Amino acid sequence: MVSDSGLHATYLGPILERHGHAAANLLQILCEAQEYYGYIHPDAVDYLGAMLHLPRSRIEGVATFYSFLHLQPQGEYRVLFSDNITDRMLGSTALMQQMCQQMWVEPGKVSEDGLLSINTTSCSGMCDQGPAMLVNGRAITRLTHQCVQEIGMLIRNRTPLVDWPSDFFVVDDNIRRRGPLLDNKLEPGDSLRTALALGTQNIVGVIQQSCLRGRGGAGFPTGLKWESCRNAQGSEHYVVCNADEGEPGTFKDRVLLASYADLVFEGMTLCALAIGATQGYLYLRGEYRYLLEFLQFVLQRRREQNLLGKNILGQAGFDFDIAIHLGAGAYICGEESALIESLEGKRGIPRNRPPFPVTHGFLQQPTAVDNVETFCQAALAIQMGADNYRAIGTPKSAGSKLISVSGDCPRPGIYEYPFGVSVREVLHDCGAVNTRAVQVSGPSGVCIAEAEFDRRLGFEDLPTAGAFMVFDDSRDLFEVARNFVHFFAHESCGFCTPCRVGTSMLKATMDKIAAGLGTRYDLGEIEHLDHVLQTSSHCGLGRTACNPVLHTLKHFRPAYENRLKSLEFKPAFDLDGALARARQMTGRDDAGAHLKPEGA
Ligand SMILES: Cc1cc2nc3c(=O)[nH]c(=O)nc-3n(C[C@H](O)[C@H](O)[C@H](O)COP(=O)(O)O)c2cc1C
Ligand code: SF4
Repeated sequence: MVSDSGLHATYLGPILERHGHAAANLLQILCEAQEYYGYIHPDAVDYLGAMLHLPRSRIEGVATFYSFLHLQPQGEYRVLFSDNITDRMLGSTALMQQMCQQMWVEPGKVSEDGLLSINTTSCSGMCDQGPAMLVNGRAITRLTHQCVQEIGMLIRNRTPLVDWPSDFFVVDDNIRRRGPLLDNKLEPGDSLRTALALGTQNIVGVIQQSCLRGRGGAGFPTGLKWESCRNAQGSEHYVVCNADEGEPGTFKDRVLLASYADLVFEGMTLCALAIGATQGYLYLRGEYRYLLEFLQFVLQRRREQNLLGKNILGQAGFDFDIAIHLGAGAYICGEESALIESLEGKRGIPRNRPPFPVTHGFLQQPTAVDNVETFCQAALAIQMGADNYRAIGTPKSAGSKLISVSGDCPRPGIYEYPFGVSVREVLHDCGAVNTRAVQVSGPSGVCIAEAEFDRRLGFEDLPTAGAFMVFDDSRDLFEVARNFVHFFAHESCGFCTPCRVGTSMLKATMDKIAAGLGTRYDLGEIEHLDHVLQTSSHCGLGRTACNPVLHTLKHFRPAYENRLKSLEFKPAFDLDGALARARQMTGRDDAGAHLKPEGA
């Protein structure tokens, strides 16, 4: 009989082997270890600590940071309902209640027989086909009551996931409008050949002349980033593709990875050629785990096509390969320096900046971190040429943008537009009617009301990472903001006090108002909190956490005021009331036992 520790060695040994016994791969090792045990077994922690020469605290510190990792046993089937506002609008709360009742499980707990645990997770990136859930990491979309019932039966019968109806796991692309990117006719290797013909030294120049700006949100000029990285001193240079896509309402990177993977890898390889990198990483959010095998397959095919590996396309010294790292359910890991920490197998806590990743990134070496779409756009810009590329869009926003449309409209999905498209035009194309508000660029972006629907998507006016959530006139914008505030409080990494405490206070204030106990004073406090968060948060999460409330307060103040206990209420302490118990205990209720009325 194999002892427990023998069992751990038998199973964990090969995992460690695959990851080169490197502490930098701790997150990947833990993810794989969990796949076997269903959670990270205490003996596994000991074993990994001994083999990787890491203290238990380091391993547990990492395991407790990521919401998909568990140190306690979870259900054999782990069900997570996606909890974005668009899932809620499609009935996810009732579906989760139904499953909890059907299966006799409390949310957040494991069933007594250890069969099942049910909980929520932040946005799963399936807003165009919600309500969605993850079962043992696999996404199931377009949930209905009947489907939830069937899932309950499959779980009760302990049916292995591979034997579930395959149509449960279909994730559609929902591409509704194509432009130069989604309509491209590029074959694998085309952009690389063009780049090689241009000359390695000229790639950055073309990207700069094309005026390509990052598509991950901040809009940093890509050519400038690549140039700074190329010129930075280091023993190695790295390319990192940010496929964390955690902003609620954004799912365009999912579609690019699923249907344009070659273009993503081509853009990364171009970047490697431009900055002189030999190794790249794709940081794939845990929610997109289902794409892993497919992406590995594409990478392998590219190796066989000599588009990765040694002497790519016969160019001596052009060596580059890409590895995929899985995230584990932490929104903050989309922030580039937190992502790098996570790539290094640590907790995803944003670094102090400067120094920036272009000089001190992965393993303190020069690193270009770009969004999935940015790499695709870079490959397109090289192929089209700078002038043709720049001719699309607006003067400050060159090219096209993928928009992830969700919410109250009959045609949710991916829309590609030249930058400069108006909000009204997008609403028209997706068939939205009676629209009350649009949340542009997710909870950390802006909420705009009808009077602003002629505003344009682009860096001049409304910058966006891609999310476009539509709310019609049946929606309560207070509840929308409350959902977003809960998201930020849950996703704050906890490193700095203003954000850790501030996002919790904000959540508590919104819950208080929702319960009908809020006052006008609380609205003032939110503005005060915003000031604190804006001025003293360590990273962008804290700085934008109050946005949903401030924007909805600006446009939809009655949604808040209707819930307040009293508009005129001034907070005070009722000392006489507080003394009632003392009076009762002493048996006194005469005038002398009461506070004297003022002026008496
Ligand atoms: C809290 C937070 C979350 C972020 N999440 C993402 C993300 O999921 N994907 C992404 O590309 N960029 C994200 N970013 C922006 C990245 O830090 C970084 O700017 C981006 O990856 C750079 O790529 P780009 O220049 O191609 O846009 C996030 C930033 C913050 C502050
Ligand atoms: S602002 Fe929030 S998310 Fe960012 S480092 Fe501070 S605690 Fe973490």
